[in-house]
Amino acid sequence: MKCTAVAHSNIAFTKYWGKQDEVLRIPANSNISMNLSDLYTTTTVEFHTSYSVDEIIIDGKKDEKETQRVVTHLNTIRKKAGITQQAKVMSQNTFPTSTGLSSSASGFAALTLAAVTAAGLQLKDKELSILARLGSGSACRSIPDGFVEWVKGESSESSYAYSIYPKNHWDIVDIVLIVSDEKKIVPTTDGHKLAWTSPFFKDRLLRMNEKNILCKKYIAERDFKSFGTLVESEALEMHAVMITSKPSLIYWLPHTVFLMKQIQFMRKNGLEIYFTVNTGQDLHVLCEKKHLKRAVHELSYIKEIKKCIINTPSEGAKLSTTHLF
Ligand code: DP6
Repeated sequence: MKCTAVAHSNIAFTKYWGKQDEVLRIPANSNISMNLSDLYTTTTVEFHTSYSVDEIIIDGKKDEKETQRVVTHLNTIRKKAGITQQAKVMSQNTFPTSTGLSSSASGFAALTLAAVTAAGLQLKDKELSILARLGSGSACRSIPDGFVEWVKGESSESSYAYSIYPKNHWDIVDIVLIVSDEKKIVPTTDGHKLAWTSPFFKDRLLRMNEKNILCKKYIAERDFKSFGTLVESEALEMHAVMITSKPSLIYWLPHTVFLMKQIQFMRKNGLEIYFTVNTGQDLHVLCEKKHLKRAVHELSYIKEIKKCIINTPSEGAKLSTTHLF
């Protein structure tokens, strides 16, 4: 059977950085995110006896490293479904990959839903989230709708994401500021392993529970100022861990830091916007919808921004009838 799925990338408000279990991708702490409307992946999967090997095409290209990771995930799904056929996989992203915009989140969420369905399985969201997590940790958050919490759990079966609120719970916007298309030098999976070498990491873990409770409270109350303050300082804290790892991980470019300062300056001048950033140079700017027009206008003067992608909260992974091949 041929199946297609669409999954959105997500932005973490409290971050997944460091794992309890590297192979099973069980995070060191629970974390909270929102799915992003305009960053998404469409993936078509077909298992068929006519295929002699798995063929993986992402954004029109074949890449050995990506193929290996996708084939490992297909093997897990084949085993679960009790099938042996090889597959053709075609995947299309609406945004640049490997620059820190979480293409592995939308990619593995779409792959999981499409491949599971093509293999003849019907799984609940919880099981899909667990499976997606095995492909890429943050992918488990792209399965459920809207605002999401990934409960860290202690085993594979207890580590999954669920929807805290649907997408229409809160009118907030995530404006992605593309600074450069430069690919990151240290892949995220390798970066995670270094978290434990930072002298600040254990201390961070002690406070994550309380941070997650507060983050959920601010989302529940739609308290944007408290929420934004927490999210921005959380991103900087994760990067403090990265920067103080051995060896040190610096994912930012000079323009990233310049924009952080611009955003803080704009905030001082009365515009309620906050930033967050993952393993890359591009920034995510968060604001309430009522301030979007002013935010976009003020950002349009900054020549260091190559492109803006405006995202509203979005649904989770869904099947589609429009196949890519
Ligand atoms: C900094 O999910 O990409 O974006 O499980 O190794 O594939 P793997 O890592 P990944 O890590 C995302 C890290 C982050 C923070 C976050 O999204 O929570």
